[in-house]
Amino acid sequence: MTNPNHTTVLITGASSGFGEEFARQYAQRGHRLVLVARRKDRLESLAETLRQQYNVNVLVEPVDLSDLAAVTDLHARLTKRGVEVDVLINNAGHGLHGPFLDNPLDAALSMIQLDIASLTAMTHVFGQDMRKRKRGQILQIASILAYQGVEQFAVYSAAKAYVLRFGDALHREFKRDNVTVTTLCPGLSDTGFISAAEQRVTPQMQMVMMQTPPVVRAGIRALDAGRISVVAGLSNKLTTFFMWATPRRIHQAVMSRILNAG
Ligand SMILES: NC(=O)c1ccc[n+]([C@@H]2O[C@H](COP(=O)([O-])OP(=O)(O)OC[C@H]3O[C@@H](n4cnc5c(N)ncnc54)[C@H](OP(=O)(O)O)[C@@H]3O)[C@@H](O)[C@H]2O)c1
Repeated sequence: MTNPNHTTVLITGASSGFGEEFARQYAQRGHRLVLVARRKDRLESLAETLRQQYNVNVLVEPVDLSDLAAVTDLHARLTKRGVEVDVLINNAGHGLHGPFLDNPLDAALSMIQLDIASLTAMTHVFGQDMRKRKRGQILQIASILAYQGVEQFAVYSAAKAYVLRFGDALHREFKRDNVTVTTLCPGLSDTGFISAAEQRVTPQMQMVMMQTPPVVRAGIRALDAGRISVVAGLSNKLTTFFMWATPRRIHQAVMSRILNAG
């Protein structure tokens, strides 16, 4: 985007992990921010830190995105305040680990609601404004699990495959209106995500785990470059190459061993 001081970045899931890091990196570049998540106290304290450190304007919007009406309410509130969102980071999401039939159906459906339905609604609602203004950027956060179905991550892998394909299609569709859509696919990273998915961190997982700053930098760089998608980190790039180059039964067995060990 041209002048950071005149652009507003809305980040969903800004109260921890990648979202918090997106907020930090965009604040460092002087952008105005809108931080969205459920935990208001965490958002308020992050906002205060960023205002003091980077002298940026930060709005806090405590919203439960699993309620779709909350998405349109958020948009209406921002419009009323005259806030135009130039960059949308669709990051909020949570995982679900375990045998499909052993997890409650509600857990799977509420994950779909957040990871798919609310991301779609945010893109629709804020994408309309970007189309009217003939400019904007949207970063969708998928996962390298979007590239294959992994045992004990059936619904999560499928949800992230949706995010990746949705982003791929919109990349071309929105280009006509000068709106960039890019999808970031992180691999295992050191955020609150793994504990939220009730998963244990094994030594195999530690070996491939990335820290949040390089993942977020890769996402912002790809978005600014107008790329269709990016896989964060060399080992994750090699993993996706391995998935492409080997039969499914082989790469599924390897991924399952890494992610379900212990
Ligand atoms: N970490 C990884 O290994 C990894 C790998 C690949 C992809 N990802 C993806 O990266 C994204 C961010 O996850 P993370 O790793 O940063 O995990 P995280 O630290 O658990 O962050 C998830 C964020 O989503 C927010 N959130 C959850 N439910 C919400 C709801 N109903 N409404 C609004 N906000 C909600 C959480 O805030 P509140 O609880 O305050 O609402 C939190 O800020 C997710 O889409 C995830 O699938 C993560």
